[in-house]
Amino acid sequence: MKITKDFLEKYNKPGPRYTSYPPATSFTASFEKDDYIKYLINSNNQKPENISFYIHIPFCPQRCFFCGCNTTALETNEKIKKYIECLIKEIENVTEHIDKKRKVTQIHFGGGTPNSVEFKFLKNIIEKIKSIYTLSSNCEIAIECNPAYLELNDIDDLAKMGFNRISFGIQDFNAEVLSAVNRKPSKYPVEQIIERTRKNNFKGINIDLIYGLPLQTPESFENTIKKTIGIYPNRIVTFSYAHVPWFNEEQKKLEKYKLPLPEEKLSMLATALNLLTENGYEFIGMDHYAKSTDELAIAKKEKKLHRNFQGYCTKETTGQVLAFGASAISQLAGAYSQNFKNPDKYISLIENTGFATERGYTLTNDDKIRREIINEIMCNGYIDFTEIAKCLNFSVYEVKNAVDFSSDKFKEFENDKLLTIKGDFIQVSETGMLVVRNIAMAFDPLLKIEDNKYSKTV
Ligand SMILES: C[S@@+](CC[C@H](N)C(=O)[O-])C[C@H]1O[C@@H](n2cnc3c(N)ncnc32)[C@H](O)[C@@H]1O
Ligand code: SF4
Repeated sequence: MKITKDFLEKYNKPGPRYTSYPPATSFTASFEKDDYIKYLINSNNQKPENISFYIHIPFCPQRCFFCGCNTTALETNEKIKKYIECLIKEIENVTEHIDKKRKVTQIHFGGGTPNSVEFKFLKNIIEKIKSIYTLSSNCEIAIECNPAYLELNDIDDLAKMGFNRISFGIQDFNAEVLSAVNRKPSKYPVEQIIERTRKNNFKGINIDLIYGLPLQTPESFENTIKKTIGIYPNRIVTFSYAHVPWFNEEQKKLEKYKLPLPEEKLSMLATALNLLTENGYEFIGMDHYAKSTDELAIAKKEKKLHRNFQGYCTKETTGQVLAFGASAISQLAGAYSQNFKNPDKYISLIENTGFATERGYTLTNDDKIRREIINEIMCNGYIDFTEIAKCLNFSVYEVKNAVDFSSDKFKEFENDKLLTIKGDFIQVSETGMLVVRNIAMAFDPLLKIEDNKYSKTV
């Protein structure tokens, strides 16, 4: 697949990333603790039956100026200990409402920097979950690591604790770029880290990169991509830097440097895409690539790919997401529920009320239809209206009506060979998958593109 800048330019428009439908911008404070409990109970009789745990560790020894995640600079040991105790308390409280016969298929530690806290805390959390629930034989236990704070023997310890997937935040190999964004480079050469990870039989190794950071040029980013290909991890994510200083004050600090121009960013994207697909990686969607032998690439071919707040996964391993910690978002069949973002507030609410719900969203039947359609199009690049109607127990008319479907809306996509429509079947082409956010937006009748609300789709 060769891609041109003109094509990317045409489709580079602001839009949601649809990590959930509706996006988190629709959550409201009228959704409270009791609503969360109601939908936790309701989740026991809904599909998927499996449970995915998300554990949010918000602490970072040093904050990167570009960061869009919910993090706080490293706290005292006492505060971290208290936070972990509360998180374990939250697991116990939520568990009171969950059918313990449901299997756990995923446990994901994200952040923040989960590898920056003492490992006994991570161990306590895993042990707690294992003491209550049965883990499926293919359970994924994953952690996001910043290699600046990782010793080589930490990797052995993580493997002993049961972790079988690991993601390293590299962002860029160029020392000047890292220094400009206030980030320390990896403590050990990345080749050594990956070798140690392979020795410990981790099933999945991922590397995160970002393009669009200050001082990056198309040439420097090409070198970063080539070096990453040389290391040959199973998965690579090339995030487009989302510069949204109106949400994130700290990002303003980057404006004193030369940020890559939009056309330079597009050139970085095109280079990454062309180099990765020429070197054994398949484009999974939304900045994600996987080796063709990787589960995600196989799931994509078999139309069994799925996505949640933690990223891509297979339909087999996904579950309804129970999320713990500050800012964590639970994704249940009938609702989303998000905790307060501030760790102090989180601690005080868990200690005093047992829960820390700040806001959420109850899905209507139309939302459930839209969620299914947008998820299918974003993950598997196809829609079969008849199959979706059958699966969700609605008529084809109701399904099409919920997404306000009319083939006229897709004429331009068809003319640009991004998709084909045959009766009740829509197939997105390989090129269409590159701009699949734009296609998803056409299935979202509630979408209002307000100035500055969303990052651009490319
Ligand atoms: C929780 S961090 C990963 C773990 C660890 N904290 C680290 O930085 O290595 C999640 C990933 O989000 C990505 N990210 C963070 N802020 C971003 C932004 N503003 N735009 C695009 N990607 C971003 C980075 O690639 C980062 O690796
Ligand atoms: S990118 Fe990672 S290390 Fe940097 S501030 Fe964000 S979460 Fe922390």
